[in-house]
Amino acid sequence: MDATEIRRKQKELLFPNIATYYQEPLVVESAKGMFVRDVEGREYLDFFAGILTVSVGHCHPRVTEAVIEQQKKLVHVSTLYPTVPQLQLAEKLVQIRPMQEKAKVFFTNSGTEANETAVALAKEATGRQEVVVLRHSYGGRGVLAQSMMGNKSYRPRTQSEVSGIRWAHAPYCYRCDLGLTYPDCGIACAKDLKPLIETTTDGEIAAFMAEPIQGVGGFVTPPKEYFQVALPIIKAAGGLFIADEVQTAWGRTGGKWWGVQQYGVEPDILTSAKGMANGQPIGLTMARASVADKQSFSNISTFGASPPSMAAASATISVIEEEKLLFNAQMMGKVLREGLEGLQEKFKGIGDVRGMGLMQAIELVKDRGTKEPDPQAAGRLMEATKKRGLLLGKGGLYGNAMRIAPPLVVSKSQVDDALRIIGESLAEALHP
Ligand SMILES: Cc1ncc(COP(=O)(O)O)c(C=O)c1O
Repeated sequence: MDATEIRRKQKELLFPNIATYYQEPLVVESAKGMFVRDVEGREYLDFFAGILTVSVGHCHPRVTEAVIEQQKKLVHVSTLYPTVPQLQLAEKLVQIRPMQEKAKVFFTNSGTEANETAVALAKEATGRQEVVVLRHSYGGRGVLAQSMMGNKSYRPRTQSEVSGIRWAHAPYCYRCDLGLTYPDCGIACAKDLKPLIETTTDGEIAAFMAEPIQGVGGFVTPPKEYFQVALPIIKAAGGLFIADEVQTAWGRTGGKWWGVQQYGVEPDILTSAKGMANGQPIGLTMARASVADKQSFSNISTFGASPPSMAAASATISVIEEEKLLFNAQMMGKVLREGLEGLQEKFKGIGDVRGMGLMQAIELVKDRGTKEPDPQAAGRLMEATKKRGLLLGKGGLYGNAMRIAPPLVVSKSQVDDALRIIGESLAEALHP
């Protein structure tokens, strides 16, 4: 089957609302390290890592071997039986946890499940129902996750909603809901959590769930004080802090395992998925032991703690440690950030540059003064970069944020190549 035939079959056989990038979706056949190859044999430098999932490069031999070895030994038992790969991974995760108190974990298959598990746990542990989430958030594709969605594009219009969810202002400094400017704002968006809880909830909540950096939202990066101002308000209302680290964990933000660590705060519950097993399906819910111990219903997951996924996650974490990828993400993130800021000086269509480590975004606008989003330019930039052999991501409520997030193994020369291609493509996309 050639690419045209595959695209035709996609239209014929798959659901029509599957989101894809590019006018002609890319048909990927294979991938290795920093590169993916399409069915026509063209190679692309991957600066989106399968939505921030390929942490240590495509088909990393250590991860591949670990999965193959595990496949030969034991593929499936469900969570009904503890296994060695599950406990080895759990032990490592508890060692690198971002909370002081000892933690416990539960494994599922996706970020959605990890988040739904976390919210159910918070409700059980506190005996309360109401949950505060952030506007512009993305939490997955279950009914609860869709009900918590802070982005209308991903919320089905006809679905009955889970009640008890309140949306707080996002710490989106470039487009502040309150019309303020950081740092003079005094982090008013975080302080607004107090009246939000007082006026729209029982006064006490089960949880506040937030991504340390909003991924699908376009890498919206809170100011450094945000969580330190927000969390005492949440605690005073009896709420637990759930950090959705589906995108921000595993060194992605540079120098640290977890996104929350960049903000000097601790979660009560943490979720992750994506980059944890380098592409094998996995979901993680981690909680302070005293919170985890409050659950009384029976938890089960058929494919949760799947031995090959457990083996892949342990191998991925080992590679991150041995190849010093927390450090590489920090260093390469700096080079990438400086390069993007350089491009912002050159191109007026770049309204904002933001992010941390290897999670950087540029937001495209028609005019820097009005900040009118330019999703058309973002679409053109996607095509122009693809034509030059570079894959980027796109996101944000307005579809105008370019998400740049290569695997953590990226080298300086690859960052330089990507910046050169982005520069050439911006010249084409912003002045068509
Ligand atoms: C922050 C965040 N949470 C949860 C999810 C849901 O994860 P999954 O697609 O694995 O269900 C995503 C997916 O993009 C995400 O970015």
